[in-house]
Amino acid sequence: MTNAEPTNASSETPQRRGFGVDVGGSGIKGGIVDMDTGQLIGDRVKLPTPQPATPKAVAKTIAAVVKEFDWTGPLGVTYPGVVTHGIVQTAANVDKKWIGSNARDMISSELSGQDVTVLNDADAAGLAEERYGAGRDATGVVVLLTFGTGIGSAVIHNGILLPNTEFGHIEVGGKEAEHRAASSVRDRRGWSFKKWAKQVTKVLIAIENAMSPELFIVGGGVSRKADQWVPLLKNRTPVVAAALQNTAGIVGAAMAATRDVTH
Ligand code: BGC
Repeated sequence: MTNAEPTNASSETPQRRGFGVDVGGSGIKGGIVDMDTGQLIGDRVKLPTPQPATPKAVAKTIAAVVKEFDWTGPLGVTYPGVVTHGIVQTAANVDKKWIGSNARDMISSELSGQDVTVLNDADAAGLAEERYGAGRDATGVVVLLTFGTGIGSAVIHNGILLPNTEFGHIEVGGKEAEHRAASSVRDRRGWSFKKWAKQVTKVLIAIENAMSPELFIVGGGVSRKADQWVPLLKNRTPVVAAALQNTAGIVGAAMAATRDVTH
């Protein structure tokens, strides 16, 4: 219970609150999270992602989102690449200036030294889905994959995250998984869901052959149309659509910041 704040003076059970910021290609979204339910408390705030999305400009926008709430506690922030100890290691689909930058310290210094945790975007979504969403009843290893511009991945076992898996970059049949089956590939080529699902199936089979998860959760914008393509998948592990949709990043980032998960 690191982040207990009473909701009001008379409340007997203090509500555990967290704060998460989800950094996306078009918007930077933040909100206060009820850590017991995984629900947002009040509305989220969304500001446009600055262009070019350099580390400095993005850090300033993140700080602006946090200040809208007067939040002074620890906060979590997502980033679409590998992050270790706050330092960005990869930038597959974002400005290469991010590589090597200390995102944690940069964001923190825009917020007068506030405690910041930075984690991979899919890892955040995976944490949230496993605890509060589509994976909440799973007992074994859960793999979440996000399908968007690239493919993100998260591996969680009983609430513990194995951070920075990058299944979008494994080679499947001689081709990088995200070049084969990201949602952007389907858009670019004008593929039907049937055609795209064949490629997604290949990626899922490669992952299940390596680690036999109990459940796949599929997220990203295209998961809103999951009923049109999930039934076409031919791999053996059950696949379900993400349940939290556009709050998963915020909620998972808040979870990472409250340090009751490994990251
Ligand atoms: C990155 C991952 C990220 C995913 C989704 C991939 O290209 O390498 O780290 O999670 O895109 O944003």
